[in-house]
Amino acid sequence: MAPIGIFDSGYGGLTILRQIRALLPQYDYLYLGDNARAPYGTRSFEIVYEFTLQAVRHLFDMGCPLVILGCNTASAKALRSIQQNDLPNIDPTRRVLGVIRPTAECVGEISLSRHVGVVATPGTIRSKTYELEIAKLHPDMTVTGEACPMWVPLVENGEYDSPGADYFVEKRIGNLLRHDPKIDTIILGCTHYPLLLNKILKYTPREVRVIPQGEYVADSLKDYLLRHPEMEQRLSQGSTTRFLTTEEPSAFSCSAAIFLGDNGVQAERITLG
Ligand code: DGL
Repeated sequence: MAPIGIFDSGYGGLTILRQIRALLPQYDYLYLGDNARAPYGTRSFEIVYEFTLQAVRHLFDMGCPLVILGCNTASAKALRSIQQNDLPNIDPTRRVLGVIRPTAECVGEISLSRHVGVVATPGTIRSKTYELEIAKLHPDMTVTGEACPMWVPLVENGEYDSPGADYFVEKRIGNLLRHDPKIDTIILGCTHYPLLLNKILKYTPREVRVIPQGEYVADSLKDYLLRHPEMEQRLSQGSTTRFLTTEEPSAFSCSAAIFLGDNGVQAERITLG
């Protein structure tokens, strides 16, 4: 088995897995959620890097030639170091890809006003990775970030549809649009946020487009595999998905059913570090 590994701090990466599986159902997938240590979004650079590297090593040990960091916080804080410093020592033939670059690429074709907002975890916003990636690709764009520290806990705790979520979503979307009223596109720069989409749309003016990133990440992976047949040929094609979590597996299976719309999830517990 040589599955595609998908990693997130918790459940958020399942929104990425869902889109990738829909587009590329032929491959095998191995999902790892570090639920016991989620959320990552309020943690320091060093800790997110250390935890992410442990997860990547685990997925490599389980046979993944390719790992997608289905987590913006890990993509922002750990991807570059892992690609440049760790991969050459661990195994230069394996690859680790993130979710920020494909999202930054797509936004150039979507925004007409060239003013874009990013809602994400405090770690992703502080890293300014979206500003940097978008500036490289679309230098004419203005990017405004809004950190939403309560959104991931709402999702991880199953409160994304509750009246409590309204307060925190309205507050952050309001702040963002007050900072830059010319914004016509809001990037959901956290893989947990698609679960809050109904609430986000409720507080976003109709003329502002809200973009979850799963579809763009899936398109970008498909394109990557076309451009890299040497990697594509290494991947096994049995259409299976295995789920690993660092927390209690039955809780993971229940929540994963909601994220994936699939009741058949059987998770296994692992330890990292
Ligand atoms: N889903 C992750 C992201 O995309 C973050 C969650 C967390 O704070 O752990 O940023």
